[in-house]
Amino acid sequence: MRPLRWSFGNARHQRSNYQVIKNGVSIRRSKILGTGHYLPPIVRTNADLEKMVDTTDEWIVDRTGIRTRHIAPDGTGSSENIVTSDMATAAGKRALEAAGLKATDIDMIIVGTVTGDVPMPATAVFVQQKLGATHCASFDISAACAGFIFGLSIADKFIRAGAASRVLVIGVELLSRILDWGDRTTCILFGDGAGAVILGPTTDDSPNASAVLATSIHSDGALARSLIIPAGGSELPLTHERLDQQEHKVHMRGQDIFKVAVKNLVSASQEAMQTAGISPTEIDWVCPHQANLRIIDQVVSRLQVAPEKVLINIDRVGNTSSASVPILLDENIRSGKIKPGDTVLMCALGAGVAWGGALLRM
Ligand code: ACO
Repeated sequence: MRPLRWSFGNARHQRSNYQVIKNGVSIRRSKILGTGHYLPPIVRTNADLEKMVDTTDEWIVDRTGIRTRHIAPDGTGSSENIVTSDMATAAGKRALEAAGLKATDIDMIIVGTVTGDVPMPATAVFVQQKLGATHCASFDISAACAGFIFGLSIADKFIRAGAASRVLVIGVELLSRILDWGDRTTCILFGDGAGAVILGPTTDDSPNASAVLATSIHSDGALARSLIIPAGGSELPLTHERLDQQEHKVHMRGQDIFKVAVKNLVSASQEAMQTAGISPTEIDWVCPHQANLRIIDQVVSRLQVAPEKVLINIDRVGNTSSASVPILLDENIRSGKIKPGDTVLMCALGAGVAWGGALLRM
């Protein structure tokens, strides 16, 4: 079918934005053009944590599956310092290389993060500046561990609507700077890192065409206080007392999150599969948020997907929040495990609680 061309009054967009209409329905979809990730250089082991808090390697491995996590060097004010936008930029550059694109080809940057460089402006504008992506709109998504899936869903919608053509979606977190390293219930869980994908348009509607097949996103504020940084916003502005009490750090009721995580990751995954008309037996890989190996095991068992189809890196990288899914995706694309044509199911849940699922054909 001959593509219809829509005019957006912008010469650059006229070249790339178009929609194919088939039987009155647009078949313009998005697909992955390239992926990348970045992990900072310091590796912190469970043995290191045993020296910092009252914990053991055995407890951490048994309860979470985590053995090591990557930490960004904190050389505040020096050239050694790594900030969130540095990691996001490194992942974004790798995704651009993989896609064979230049930064100036990107027309939107979406950054999922709860650990931005500064409270204002968005970390995405620092990434835009560092990449030299001079022709785009850039903004952040605050959906904690689900931030990447939320960003992917938004990017997909913009591309389907013909309003964007090359969208860089990044999940990035520098959680080590917002953890209370004296709180054993949280500090053992998290790591730093960034993952990125570039989405572009496709009008190939053949059954095995590479495409984002479905996304689903949700949130429920009833559990907002189960995983929270209490101070530093308009509710509790920072004071010396609140700083002393670590209220500007992550506070979590782990069991509350655990229970809802299993239920909601299953439902979001099922919703994405139903939307795409894909059954669990057709899934080649599950690429789940890496929060806890026990959560992953329970989700996969309820979805009735074979365990050997589940991608895991939580043992090496811990919970990197919004970076978790795109890091795992990129690692497995680069290793050759995920191949073109494979069907990949993603799901994530985090503070909010916010959660989502996505189904991709690579
Ligand atoms: N080392 C040793 N003991 C510990 C540690 C530790 N690091 N942490 C807690 N304990 C103790 C507790 O004090 C408790 O002791 P008690 O029985 O004497 O009171 C005991 O271990 C059991 O604690 P639980 O909290 O019940 O342990 P649980 O099995 O639930 O595991 C965990 C805790 C790992 C946090 C789990 O609840 C979990 O993974 N929750 C979900 C986390 C998540 O998914 N977060 C969402 C994403 S994060 C984001 O959005 C940024």
